[in-house]
Amino acid sequence: MNTRFLDACNQRPTDAVPIWMMRQAGRYMSEYRALRKKYSILEMIKTPELAVEVTLQPANAFDIDAAIIFADILPPLEGMGLELTFEKGVGPVIHNPIRTPADIAALTQPDPRESLSFTLKAIALTRRELAGRIPLIGFSGAPFTLASYAIEGGSSRNYIIAKSLMYGEPQAWHALMEKLSILVGEYLFAQAEAGAQVLQLFDSWVGALSPADYREYVLPHSARAIARAKEAGVPVIHFGTNTGGMLPLIKEAGGDVIGVDWRIEMADARKILGADVAMQGNLDPVTLFAPSEVLKRRAAAIIDPMRGHPGFIFNLGHGLHKETSPEKVAELVDFVHKYSK
Ligand code: CP3
Repeated sequence: MNTRFLDACNQRPTDAVPIWMMRQAGRYMSEYRALRKKYSILEMIKTPELAVEVTLQPANAFDIDAAIIFADILPPLEGMGLELTFEKGVGPVIHNPIRTPADIAALTQPDPRESLSFTLKAIALTRRELAGRIPLIGFSGAPFTLASYAIEGGSSRNYIIAKSLMYGEPQAWHALMEKLSILVGEYLFAQAEAGAQVLQLFDSWVGALSPADYREYVLPHSARAIARAKEAGVPVIHFGTNTGGMLPLIKEAGGDVIGVDWRIEMADARKILGADVAMQGNLDPVTLFAPSEVLKRRAAAIIDPMRGHPGFIFNLGHGLHKETSPEKVAELVDFVHKYSK
């Protein structure tokens, strides 16, 4: 059994640096595109046997050190009463976005064991299929990133609608964030119970906030979700992008591992975070479009300053792009292992 990833999460020494990649399952793989011809993304997520198959695609194609369950951050919103679809060329759409305090009061507090039973079942089945080969990661969107989709109704550039509600209706905002944090915490806990060995909280868009706004409007809610997840006894990875200016606050909210993107040097992030937390990151996913020698130089520059610090997991700073070549992914995985040994 390959325990590199779990060892790194727990800040134990490893024989080589473990690597997995956000969005390692997806359209850049022909095996994924073949299934997508027959099923929509939500069908694939909600059919446990298909979710297992997609989860295993990258685990079978590459020498990666962890699998991540195939799901998405947005289906939890459906259980609260929001209507979600994925539109070609647009991305996720919420058809009845939250705009008023009354909308927030009307949201239900679903039990994820019921509303997300398909993903919990997929986790249990995947653990059986992996048979201990590599560990399985469960995940959830974080309260802020979920709130931004629920309020904006889809992807956003400046979060003007979400922030207007946050500043203008602070009580309703905190009520929404409390409902989301309870859902997220219970969902993560249930995933660990179902067999997830590590949990990752994706606060992908939190870098849109100033540190002061993060502290006031978000931190207590992320902290509540992480504290509940931690009761399951597994390591938690706390990931965000554009968080260079608020890393101490991200750490304060919780997590055994802090995930960072490429907009900060790993060595600088380590100095800010201190030695008592593990780290994950941070290659720009577009570096996979560079010639091999540039790719290897950038990967080496991430690994070198982490030598002598047990508790480092190599990852991209954000998800793989659909145009990425699988050959380049294989090259990166092999390089990280060989170079760090
Ligand atoms: O990492 C993995 O391999 C596990 C699966 C996973 C998906 N989404 C599958 C997916 C994970 C961890 C996510 C998380 C997710 N989803 C995030 C947080 C991570 C990040 O990237 O910041 C966010 C913001 C979402 C929301 C989301 N889902 C968007 C914006 C989109 C559309 C993107 C696009 O390119 O169209 C999705 C759809 C989605 N989720 C796809 C996959 C593989 C592509 C769907 C397809 O097959 O058409």
